[in-house]
Amino acid sequence: MKDYIFTKKPRLIMALSLILSLATPVIGLAHDKSDILLVNKQQSLSETYFPENLMIPEVDFSGDKEKMQAKAANALEAMFNQAEQDGVQLYAASGYRSYHYQEDLFQYWVNQYGEQEANRFSAKPGESEHQTGLTMDVTSAAVDFQLEQSFGETEAGKWLEQHASEFGFIIRYPEGKEAVTGYTYEPWHLRYIGTDHARKVDSLHVTLETYLSIPASNLHTVEAGDTLYSLAKDNGTTVIVIKALNPGIKTDYLQIGESIFLPGASSTPEQPSLDYKIKEGDTFNQIAASFGSVTVDDLRAANPEVNAHELEIGKIINVPK
Ligand code: DAL
Ligand code: ZN
Repeated sequence: MKDYIFTKKPRLIMALSLILSLATPVIGLAHDKSDILLVNKQQSLSETYFPENLMIPEVDFSGDKEKMQAKAANALEAMFNQAEQDGVQLYAASGYRSYHYQEDLFQYWVNQYGEQEANRFSAKPGESEHQTGLTMDVTSAAVDFQLEQSFGETEAGKWLEQHASEFGFIIRYPEGKEAVTGYTYEPWHLRYIGTDHARKVDSLHVTLETYLSIPASNLHTVEAGDTLYSLAKDNGTTVIVIKALNPGIKTDYLQIGESIFLPGASSTPEQPSLDYKIKEGDTFNQIAASFGSVTVDDLRAANPEVNAHELEIGKIINVPK
């Protein structure tokens, strides 16, 4: 607890700072997330949902030209231009898809893999973000213009991981988060949410689901003059707690504009994890043993909704790394 030292302040100053902190609105516009359209297995779009302002972005395509909503198309163009200036050639592959197109596409995969397996990488109609017109799948020559997980290891995939948020995009289905997002890793699937949100999702290292569940009062955007010490003090906590909540913070110096978790968040930051699909006969004991560095308690903590005594075959659980 060395780095948590309260300086004794005269009572008047303490009272004043309390009044000031109460007077400062905690829920600011900056944390308003109502503009984000969440589409997933729990929250679907109707058959008659059609996005407005669809247009074809002026970028290179690996196949047929595809559409996006204008704001996302403009952002995609800016991103592709910057990538090109950085020597990275990106190709757009799949953008807006109607409910009925997705219906046929999902059925195609069900015919090949069966419904349960297909739904790990392909959305049912109404459950695809592609229906929003805010999504584009992106690929490159290095993976022969395919949509495959090794894209994440390529120069283009790494460039996107590093820069997409600057243009308002997030990699919507990160590695090891199937238990949260419902889908396996898709380094190619970019979702537009605007730069303000995308930068926060990126610096918090969370999925869109978790980001949307964080109460505004538990999220802080670093301002000039903020230090770990001042934030700890203002929030009645310790530097150690703030650091534990934000494993991404590498030094004691906070970057202005970066987002951090404050204590009390009902959703905690997501720790690095792996997806594991429950097989017949599995127990938490066996799974923990097969991963070596993981204990049964770790598994329980990472999967609070799972009943360890009745593991459901085919269910995806989180294995903390
Ligand atoms: N591949 C993503 C999950 C979709 O089908 O929308
Ligand atoms: Zn996609």
